[in-house]
Amino acid sequence: MILAIDTSCDETAAAVTDGAKVLSNIIWSQASQHAQFGGVMPSLAQRMHRERIDWVINRALKTARTTPEALDAVAVTTGPGLAIALEVGIQKAKDIAAKYDLPLLPINHVEGHLLSSLANKQFDLILPCLGVVVSGGHTEIVLIKSLGRYQILAKTQDDALGEALDKAARMLGLGYPGGAVLEKMAREGNPKAFPLPLPMARREEQASFSYSGLKTAMWRLTEKVKGNRRELSKQEICDLAASFQYRAFQHLDRITDHILKQRGLTVQQMVVGGGVAANMELRKRLRKLGKEHNLKVTFPYSSKLVGDNAAMIGLAAGYKPIRDLRYMNTNEIDRKPRWSVEEI
Ligand code: KG4
Ligand code: ZN
Repeated sequence: MILAIDTSCDETAAAVTDGAKVLSNIIWSQASQHAQFGGVMPSLAQRMHRERIDWVINRALKTARTTPEALDAVAVTTGPGLAIALEVGIQKAKDIAAKYDLPLLPINHVEGHLLSSLANKQFDLILPCLGVVVSGGHTEIVLIKSLGRYQILAKTQDDALGEALDKAARMLGLGYPGGAVLEKMAREGNPKAFPLPLPMARREEQASFSYSGLKTAMWRLTEKVKGNRRELSKQEICDLAASFQYRAFQHLDRITDHILKQRGLTVQQMVVGGGVAANMELRKRLRKLGKEHNLKVTFPYSSKLVGDNAAMIGLAAGYKPIRDLRYMNTNEIDRKPRWSVEEI
């Protein structure tokens, strides 16, 4: 039984897991506090994590009907993420591990997203497996060779997919973070209403993502549609949202499809994680892609496992042998803001 903690960005999260089983998953989001800045403010995130972490941990233990004495280990996200935010969770995890003489497992946040769809499923991956992580900070296609052995096949050159959706939402006056609202508006819009460029068209062999050109095109288009009016009409917002989302997802689709075709991968399963995996249109597209390539496509079973959470950190810790860690020097555990899954 593992107590897991994640304070990598703007969610203060703690969970209790037992292998792949989620016993509790508590998330206190700070998103509304950061909304006024249009993005995550690191110093504010750190302060809020400090204020909320004890409550969140106690709640996670209580919901799981357990106590620290009954735990086998503590797991904490040590990266990637915001350095001063990560620090809060790491320090708290060290304190608990020391107080109750528990091994401490440093966990990679992206590995958590990669494995999040295995929650309550006993790690039943068909290996090797294709992993897709789409969040506010990451857009990565990863080859899961085995649990703990990962190879990045594609990543973004600039913005992450969620970040791009958030920026488009902001241009349309939909607030922050706007991915979910953009999806809602897009449902009422025509995805072919406005022509936006497909990123990396005919450059698929580079196997990388780029959303900055699409973002600039969206800004120009929005200004043009607005003309000298102060606001867009509701239908214009819906059409613009649908057009942007369509291209953004088509880009993800194309690169993933290209990788599957060109790399001669013998994968039979695709696991998807990260905040953007909450999007129904994206799920539909990836399921279709999976069908074309004979892949089983797996998403997290609950919306609480899609965005940032600590249950996925417990899961990523759950398959690691903890026996030998008891004598690990916890002083060596430190934040790694740019930790890649390839370096696990
Ligand atoms: O995984 P996450 O909570 O945090 C990071 O690790 O970044 O992902 C947050 C991202 C935000 O960009 C947010 O707009 C996006 O996930 N998101 C969505 C949806 N729900 C959240 N994007 C598209 N459609 C959604 N329904
Ligand atoms: Zn995340």
